[in-house]
Amino acid sequence: MRNKVYNSNTKPGDTMIKEKIQNALNLQLNQELYAFYLYLSMSSYFDSLNLSGFSNWMRFQAEEEKNHGLKFYDYILQSRGKVDLKQIEAPKKTWKSAREVFEDTYNHEKKVTESIYDIVDLAIAERDHATHNFLQWFVSEQVEEEATALKILEKIKFIGDNQGALFILDREVGTRSNA
Ligand code: FEO
Repeated sequence: MRNKVYNSNTKPGDTMIKEKIQNALNLQLNQELYAFYLYLSMSSYFDSLNLSGFSNWMRFQAEEEKNHGLKFYDYILQSRGKVDLKQIEAPKKTWKSAREVFEDTYNHEKKVTESIYDIVDLAIAERDHATHNFLQWFVSEQVEEEATALKILEKIKFIGDNQGALFILDREVGTRSNA
């Protein structure tokens, strides 16, 4: 009886997550690492314009994405799944303006939200309550990520071609220090 409860038949290499879920988590891990690349690329773009505040903001954003990727990495391992580190797509390298960068940022975050929702739907369909629970942190995080990107985008739209105001905003966003 006891053996049945504790499943003593578990062998090294057995997983606690279904393959479908594992594949979706590995794809999301790759997406988060791509976001790390994308925001790092944006950081270097801003640095080339001497907008060091925006550059700093993007650097922190990139760090956050790396940490998001590691959360997926850790969860897959914790669930005795297999981590599959896929090739990371090269990000865009240049933009026309700060406005275009934040339009891309906001759109990227909306895409990430959709893909998190897709995995949540899959977890529900597969009755994987543990993965569903794990993903709830990301559901909340995406609300914050979208809101923050949109707020900066709206400020950039508001100041338009006013370079002086852009430098003031650069100083304001450059105070970000959480990673
Ligand atoms: Fe990892 Fe910005 O979402």
